[in-house]
Amino acid sequence: MTDLIQCMASTAEDELPGPDLLCRDALAGLSRTPKTLPSKHFYDAHGSDLFEEICLLDEYYVTRTEEAQLRKIATTLSRAIPPGAALVEFGSGASVKTRRILDASPQLSAYLPIDISEAALAHAAARIRASYPALEVAPIRADFTADITLPERFGARPLVGFFPGSTIGNFTPDEAETFLANVRRLLGAGACLMLGADSTNDPAVLGPAYDDRSGVTAAFNLNLLTRLNRECGADFDLGRFEHRAVWNAGESRIEMHLVSLARQEVRIADTRVPFAPHETIHTENSYKYQPDFLSALASRAGWAVRQVWQESDPAPLSPGHAGTFCTYLLEGR
Ligand code: AVI
Repeated sequence: MTDLIQCMASTAEDELPGPDLLCRDALAGLSRTPKTLPSKHFYDAHGSDLFEEICLLDEYYVTRTEEAQLRKIATTLSRAIPPGAALVEFGSGASVKTRRILDASPQLSAYLPIDISEAALAHAAARIRASYPALEVAPIRADFTADITLPERFGARPLVGFFPGSTIGNFTPDEAETFLANVRRLLGAGACLMLGADSTNDPAVLGPAYDDRSGVTAAFNLNLLTRLNRECGADFDLGRFEHRAVWNAGESRIEMHLVSLARQEVRIADTRVPFAPHETIHTENSYKYQPDFLSALASRAGWAVRQVWQESDPAPLSPGHAGTFCTYLLEGR
């Protein structure tokens, strides 16, 4: 691919989430107590398809709530985008939500999607180019949590960041602050960042959203073990582990775990990993940030909070229990 900018200066190949990093992370995480696996390894091709399925589930309010919100506020957000600006999206995936911003902001001159998946980037870039022929599209393959450098030719343009989807919730608060400080350095003083974060804290909504009836989230979680079997020579028996989602109110996060159903030993390449019955592998945190908490965190990371919008799920599953989602308009100090 000729137009794909490989950010190898900032993201070394073996730091991209491929088999080497997966196996190193697995050996490190499974030798800890409690056992962990990093959630960034969910997203191989099958995991990315399962995540897209999750986004369409009745139980998973996050995507539809953010989309309803972006439809309402896109014109207002667009007023913060200067003429000729370049839109930089962190973890762009299929670039679906981006369209709400692009439709409302013809003054944008360029779109820079950043994603780890070459296939997702190429596919999304082709579709965006077809829909917005006047827009320069410059995909960047990188781990968006790494130290990214943008191509020099964009240095003179005003930059606007976009980080939707509540991906910020998959960082710990410390990691979120570090990430926002890095983005502030990358985009510069005066730049804007549009940030989306789930603010739901009702366990009646969160439970089904992360443990749906049709078992898609369970399959998404268990796919980590399939990856370890295929890519790291492991011998996990998927019938002897089950998916569990737990709301941790003290930490304001929903946790995903894989629970061992028996005493067992699993091999990963040459290493043997023992599991006690009911022992879990902690695979994901999804923090649910309240606006005051996230505003204070963003402020410590060098951002002034210009506006916060909160939206309720337009199609809640049970009356009186609706998820909520916030979009933040931040300006670099
Ligand atoms: C990508 N991220 C914002 C999703 C979330 O809600 O934390 C990942 C996910 N995990 C289970 N369902 C969805």
